[in-house]
Amino acid sequence: MPTIDTAVNIDDLKRIARRRLPKIMFDFIEGGVEDETGLSVNAQAFRNTRLVPRYYIDTSKREQTAKILGLTFNAPFGIAPTGMAGAFRKDAELFLAQAAHEANIPYLMSGASNASMEKGVKLAPKNLWYQIYGARDRSFQLDLVKRAVDCGLTTIAVTCDVPVSSNRERNRRNGFVRPIRMTLPTILEAMLHPGWVINYYRDGGLPMLGNWEKYAAAGSTADQVADMFAKQTPDASQTWKDLEAIRNAWPGKLLVKGIMHPEDARIATGMGVDGIIVSNHGARQLDNMPSSLEMLPLIRNAVGPDTALLLDSGVRRGSDIVAALCMGADFVLTGRATLYGATAGGLAGVKKAVSILQREIDLVLGQIGAPNLDALGPHYLLETVKAEEERRNSGAMARR
Ligand code: FNR
Repeated sequence: MPTIDTAVNIDDLKRIARRRLPKIMFDFIEGGVEDETGLSVNAQAFRNTRLVPRYYIDTSKREQTAKILGLTFNAPFGIAPTGMAGAFRKDAELFLAQAAHEANIPYLMSGASNASMEKGVKLAPKNLWYQIYGARDRSFQLDLVKRAVDCGLTTIAVTCDVPVSSNRERNRRNGFVRPIRMTLPTILEAMLHPGWVINYYRDGGLPMLGNWEKYAAAGSTADQVADMFAKQTPDASQTWKDLEAIRNAWPGKLLVKGIMHPEDARIATGMGVDGIIVSNHGARQLDNMPSSLEMLPLIRNAVGPDTALLLDSGVRRGSDIVAALCMGADFVLTGRATLYGATAGGLAGVKKAVSILQREIDLVLGQIGAPNLDALGPHYLLETVKAEEERRNSGAMARR
């Protein structure tokens, strides 16, 4: 079994996280919906992408500085929002924030995080972004926007792909409901992970939803705040008008997370959104969706070259990140990859996940002959190379 120090890839961190967590918790991270087809669709999309290297290009001074939304980061990826991370490891979101700050990459804190944005921004003043879920009481979502302004954040994202809850059968079978229903098999399995169980109960059980505490009655317990959150979200009555209201209330950069249809991308950019996170929520919402990678070129065509496009869902390797950039993304987010790190080893685990991905990106850049991210593009994709060769061949045939 690897340790944080000996882990060589994201899968090693996943193995450590799996060992640490009871099945009921690990399955919440890992699971998809219904038949979980989407998980393999996401993985396969990257596995089916072929990069064609070029040689005799000086790549001795490689660098992966990335620019997005007018900001400069040390890598072309950031950390996607993952709710309730504090339940997997206490203070996980603070570790994610701290690691993002140290690596100079963005961390998009979840709207369902345990740490509050006010705490996160102290650790990552320039690197914290915040993700908003629409709420039935619209004053909450607008207050969250105001808090983001007061915190001095540069960027927020509104998640649009959770109109209703999803059918996560693993969670239902495991009893991942509140209060967590400890069936005998769950208890017996959890006893194999005593470290997590002892810490979880020592720290008071379900951690507080830090950003929502304010909207519950004074003195509410974590369970009461979670109940209130569950009554507010998901909110199936959200429409483009709500996005427009957030746009009007938020002076900074605004992203919409979860857009998959090119027409939705056109509507969003038409209303002044600065960027789109093309995502299928890590295959956690609708099982038979396409992968975000499949939709990316269509969405790039729909919005043109100037809208910032970020992508997540299924990214586990530096080569996945490079492939997404070649296919039209400006930036990539990692959900489970960095969450495995946080769960497996706290701050050291997130730092390890980030450094693994950075190292992999660096090596892939060297392998394909790209000294920096500006050199990337569709010309590295097998599909493009084939199309170009066919075009040349048909031109040569025509000249004969
Ligand atoms: C998520 N995701 C998510 N997205 C979001 O907008 N708000 C949230 O609170 C959450 N919560 C959440 C919890 C957990 C445990 C996971 C794994 C994911 C989705 C997340 O931001 C991202 O879209 C996916 O995780 C990307 O897929 P990969 O990288 O996990 O394959």
